[in-house]
Amino acid sequence: MRAIDVILQKRNGWALSPEDIRGLITGYVEGSIPDYQMSAFLMAVYFQGMSIHETTELTMAMAESGEMVDLSDIPGIKVDKHSTGGVADITTLILAPLVAAAGVPVAKMSGRGLGHTGGTIDKLESIPGLLTELDRERFIRQVREIGLAVTSQSENLVPADKKLYALRDVTGTIDSIPLIASSVMSKKIASGTDAIVLDVKAGSGAFMKTPESAFRLAEVMVSIGLLAGRETVAIVSDMNDPLGSAIGNAIEVEEAIGVLRGTIGGPLLELSLVLGTHMLLVSGKSETLDDARARLVGLINSGEALRKFEQMINAQGGDPAIVRDFTLLPKAANQDVLQSPRDGYLSIVDSQQLGRAAMILGAGRETKDSRIDPAVGIRILAKTGDSIIKGQVLAIFYYSHESDYLLARRVVEDAMNVVSEPVSKHPLIYGVVDRNGTHIRSLD
Ligand code: URA
Repeated sequence: MRAIDVILQKRNGWALSPEDIRGLITGYVEGSIPDYQMSAFLMAVYFQGMSIHETTELTMAMAESGEMVDLSDIPGIKVDKHSTGGVADITTLILAPLVAAAGVPVAKMSGRGLGHTGGTIDKLESIPGLLTELDRERFIRQVREIGLAVTSQSENLVPADKKLYALRDVTGTIDSIPLIASSVMSKKIASGTDAIVLDVKAGSGAFMKTPESAFRLAEVMVSIGLLAGRETVAIVSDMNDPLGSAIGNAIEVEEAIGVLRGTIGGPLLELSLVLGTHMLLVSGKSETLDDARARLVGLINSGEALRKFEQMINAQGGDPAIVRDFTLLPKAANQDVLQSPRDGYLSIVDSQQLGRAAMILGAGRETKDSRIDPAVGIRILAKTGDSIIKGQVLAIFYYSHESDYLLARRVVEDAMNVVSEPVSKHPLIYGVVDRNGTHIRSLD
């Protein structure tokens, strides 16, 4: 295989053979194919696309470029959940203990974040003492003992994705469906899970700006999962509004605990229940959607879901008292509010900008070497379409540095308008993609 031939073939819109795809990925990871050739290949894929079979081959070649984790020592069907990324999206921290409390073994490998806030691992690290780098033996033992562990992805999990993602980031090739799908699914497949529930986001705060493009991504990812022998379901959900209210790290942990305690409802709880319900179905723990949902609600009401989270914090060396006492979490030195200048209706014009504002405060990484400040962030207290009165607090800023705050505040002011005409609310769930096809939810 010569890289130039594969580039030309894809540039001209022809299908690639499995050997071509494997040769390209192996050569790139080993270093015999240089960045400039891989950049040309990525751009060719960006414009010409890939068939499902090519995308699945790419996914498997990427997954097999490093460690393929073996979770077979853990009894039961292991189910992983993945979100394509949104603002104030803390569902992993809610779902991991919630479905573990329902008896589904959760062996979760998560990443650190690049962008508006940290990833799940960064958020967990705002819990004093909590270890997020468990060696493989300890990770598996903990799941066997308490049914739940969350650890950071090892350096050797899908090295092809690490190299490719960095290259895509600087070559304008991030938002390509086959490249996103293979990136996400290679990590899920390499992490040893038996079944996968995907939350594919659509809207201003997501890669996919419209439900139509999110459904296309969801269909490709579900097909890859099924072709790879993993039961896979995708929920397509809205990301025009931040999902919860907190955008940050420690404040997102507080919000997740609020949901597990049963004191926070709204879209964050609802989406967690929808995703959790599908996790129970694919794991075989429930037979019907109604039964699964009732079990999850019961586990929140009885306190068992919160106790499972406490158990996990304890097992990973963190201070479990934080679930009752939020003063033990990092707190920002300063706080200020943004109030509405008028009566009207809220329109969040760009939720990605709300994430960017949190990053400016220090809640996320601008480059992979930036340091996260776990205490800072923003709470957004209203959603698109809400009726607002003059003086109502729309956002609270938690910050360390005045100059960051002033900049972040301007970004938030531009992203949230209060207008005189009523604004329609966004639906939360657009539909589901599973082995039986695409089911678009009626929105009226
Ligand atoms: N998340 C990933 O892991 N990869 C992508 O390409 C996009 C989102």
